[in-house]
Amino acid sequence: MTDQVLEALQTSALARIQASASLADLEAVRVEVLGRKGTLAGISKEMGKLAPEEKARIGKLLNTAKQSLEQALERRTAQFEDAALDSRLASEWLDLTVPAPGIRPGSLHPVTLVQKEIEDLFVSMGFAVLSGPEVETEYNNFDALNIPQDHPARDMQDTFWLEGGNLLRTHTSPVQVRGMHRLGPPLRMIAPGRVFRNEEVDPSHEHTFYQLEGMMVDREVSVAHLIYFMKTLLKGIFKRDVAVRLRPGYFPFVEPGFELDIHCLLCDGAGCPVCKQSGWLELLPCGLVHPSVLRMGGIDPEEWNGFAFGLGLTRLAMMRYAIDDIRLLQGGDLRFLSQFGKASN
Ligand code: DAH
Repeated sequence: MTDQVLEALQTSALARIQASASLADLEAVRVEVLGRKGTLAGISKEMGKLAPEEKARIGKLLNTAKQSLEQALERRTAQFEDAALDSRLASEWLDLTVPAPGIRPGSLHPVTLVQKEIEDLFVSMGFAVLSGPEVETEYNNFDALNIPQDHPARDMQDTFWLEGGNLLRTHTSPVQVRGMHRLGPPLRMIAPGRVFRNEEVDPSHEHTFYQLEGMMVDREVSVAHLIYFMKTLLKGIFKRDVAVRLRPGYFPFVEPGFELDIHCLLCDGAGCPVCKQSGWLELLPCGLVHPSVLRMGGIDPEEWNGFAFGLGLTRLAMMRYAIDDIRLLQGGDLRFLSQFGKASN
């Protein structure tokens, strides 16, 4: 074992370390030269045979070689790691100046769209938009609307009763009662809102749906005024003149009471399956406010009178957008709901 052999070994190992192309190459050199069964370990073993002073000298050289190779390996490893980090940084980057995607813009519910249009129309005619609670008293929902206990009209509206005699309002008419007390005569109000009936759900019936109540109280209000406002309402909704007819209808809170029908929009009165060949669609129950209702609203029926109407908002939205299953409206399916984007639809 000569010094030259050791030196040559060190030089060639250093050269291989410098020339290595990957961490795997480096590891191969390390195992071969510095490993437990590597070249340097082999030399170490041979040293036992040497004379003591030779042993010390060669041992020192061996240590120096080992240290310099270990340092070279470390440096080269660091170079590979730096290069790997650089290339990762070059390929994976984050642009913090790009605006965040944010919340996706939603769309308005078809019932909301129709409701907003009607609100705008009535506001332009001096009507206030009121809202009442969905949990109502029995008194406001029935009694104050001239529907006394044991009156058969209570059975016409299957009611969700709550504890303590309250209920889920079965119509928006109780807002008339609240409106009369709140505004006093003369008054013009509409009240859109959600109503509830204990009904079996099918394509045309829901236990939860929307109505829009309207009421005007003034002096000498006549059926002619009622018809004028109803025609204006229908023209606003359907964007054209709509032929209407009045039939007698029974509602305890109006006298006289009417069912207002419109000329079928699909067949223009000729008769089709939608209007059941009659040429007419039942759309708007209405009438002149019953004197007892005015009185219970704190208004003197000798001095004031008025009209009221109850529009089926859900039904109207279905007609407007040709929706043939009422359950879609409450279903929460965005594939359905997102079709109704713009208020100008
Ligand atoms: N509240 C009635 C219902 O839900 C609808 C109605 C009819 C409202 C006549 C009115 C009206 O204001 O005058 O069946």
